[in-house]
Amino acid sequence: MAESGHVSNGGAPDGHHADHHHGDAEFVVVANRLPVDKEVLPDGTVNWKRSPGGLVTALEPILRSQTGAWVGWSGIADSDDNPDIEGIDIHAVPLSTREIAEYYEGFSNATLWPLYHDVLVKPEYHREWWNTYVEVNRRFAEKAAEAAGEGAIVWIQDYQLQLVPKMLRMLRPDLRIGFFLHIPFPPVELFMQLPWRTEIVEGLLGADLIGFHLPGGAQNFLFLARRLAGQATSKGTVGVRSRFGVVQVGFRTVRVGAFPISIDSGDLDTKSKSKEIRTRAAALREELGNPKTIMLGVDRLDYTKGIDVRLKALSELLAEKRIDPADTVMIQLATPSRERVDSYVRMRAGIEQLVGNINGTYGNVGQPVVQYLHRPVPRDELIAFFVAADVMLVTPLRDGMNLVAKEYVACRSDLGGALVLSEFTGAAAELRSAYQANPYDLDGVKDAIEAAVEQSTQEGRRRMRALRRQVLTHDVAKWAESFLGALASTTETASDANRGVHLVTGSESGTDS
Ligand code: ADP
Ligand code: G6P
Repeated sequence: MAESGHVSNGGAPDGHHADHHHGDAEFVVVANRLPVDKEVLPDGTVNWKRSPGGLVTALEPILRSQTGAWVGWSGIADSDDNPDIEGIDIHAVPLSTREIAEYYEGFSNATLWPLYHDVLVKPEYHREWWNTYVEVNRRFAEKAAEAAGEGAIVWIQDYQLQLVPKMLRMLRPDLRIGFFLHIPFPPVELFMQLPWRTEIVEGLLGADLIGFHLPGGAQNFLFLARRLAGQATSKGTVGVRSRFGVVQVGFRTVRVGAFPISIDSGDLDTKSKSKEIRTRAAALREELGNPKTIMLGVDRLDYTKGIDVRLKALSELLAEKRIDPADTVMIQLATPSRERVDSYVRMRAGIEQLVGNINGTYGNVGQPVVQYLHRPVPRDELIAFFVAADVMLVTPLRDGMNLVAKEYVACRSDLGGALVLSEFTGAAAELRSAYQANPYDLDGVKDAIEAAVEQSTQEGRRRMRALRRQVLTHDVAKWAESFLGALASTTETASDANRGVHLVTGSESGTDS
């Protein structure tokens, strides 16, 4: 990393700190994406849409309920417009076309994303991409430093910004810094592939609190912190000690924990009960020809989501006549995602071929078995789909949490419907009453789907009641409260802890002393 070597803030704030103009925000979210995505129409008009993905779904209601600033990228090249969003002070970080290719599509989504998701595709390691990742992370850190008021709380999000905690701490030792990873943190053996593994671990250790969805991710990180972030010095080993939940970085204490993210379940529950949504859900069923079973998949078009798994399972169930094409419809809603990354282009072609294959074999004119949309659906329409669906198919090969599974449950106050859920989602740890399956075991997935289709009303209600108890009592407000509560209770004040910071970087040799 650019500032490799021995870093010490030893006492007085460094030069950068004094030069920087502080903002006045007391609470700052820093994420690669802004909550809205900029679109320029052919006639030049600008349109701001909701950004894709679970991170924005989760954080947007948090920022609406407490005033704060949001530092992020607009989704297109060379734009620093700050859209007006009620209650959120937006600070856009501009990215050039080259930076989008190397930092976003490259290092974030062709290196880190596959590496952190079980190497489902082969991660690509390119030094130029890494250099751009470092540069762009620095720009985010500088923007955050400008936005944050004295002693503010800054909450950095996700794998695109893992160097920001340390960079920001060097610019602004007065801040209290949290980091949350929205995707899985990989097993140690896989993480060790990364040529810049030490820099990433040290970047994260700039935070006061590092959060993961699951205890396993936190444990992997603790092991790596001990293994990688220490350096033998002439005075002996000044290293990083870790025990469960805590890493000691010189004089500074970094807390590490599991904070499973959630959704605004109360809001979805209310909306899904409204007359408009109920009417729309009934109309959807009608439009589909009143089939006995509506199955639904809702995902970004991503190879981690196992859309191919559910299509193959459906295809075999049809071939074995365990499902009747005359009274079954599967709807797959797929939001376009990362469309310039090769692995996404290939995966899209494969999925569309599977859809065509099933419809060609089992469909009829005007009556396809699989109805596939490659575009985002408006929020209210999506809720109506959840209400209408008898079986929800969530079959990722690996997923940090998967909010879609929780959204479906939150929309089923009628206690109808069934959830088929991959064991390899973070949500599986909480949603025990779903029909769970190993997505690599196609027969197991088929059995789970068949059981969900054929469940008795009574069994369905029992399971859905249990699922709803979990989702409604563990909402996103609670998640944020628990993370921010833990961050606030980090014992020393941030500036006390920074006095005499002795963050050791560089070598992998010296560890626990
Ligand atoms: P990820 O963050 O990997 O995309 P999540 O399941 O955690 O996965 O979150 C996805 C979010 O995007 C959810 O809020 C979901 O409702 C929304 N979403 C996914 N697909 C669509 C779609 N086709 N149309 C509208 N919203 C979608
Ligand atoms: C996941 C990631 C988010 C990301 C989202 C959408 O939820 O954890 O960081 O924003 O997917 O992906 P995109 O690449 O479009 O931002």
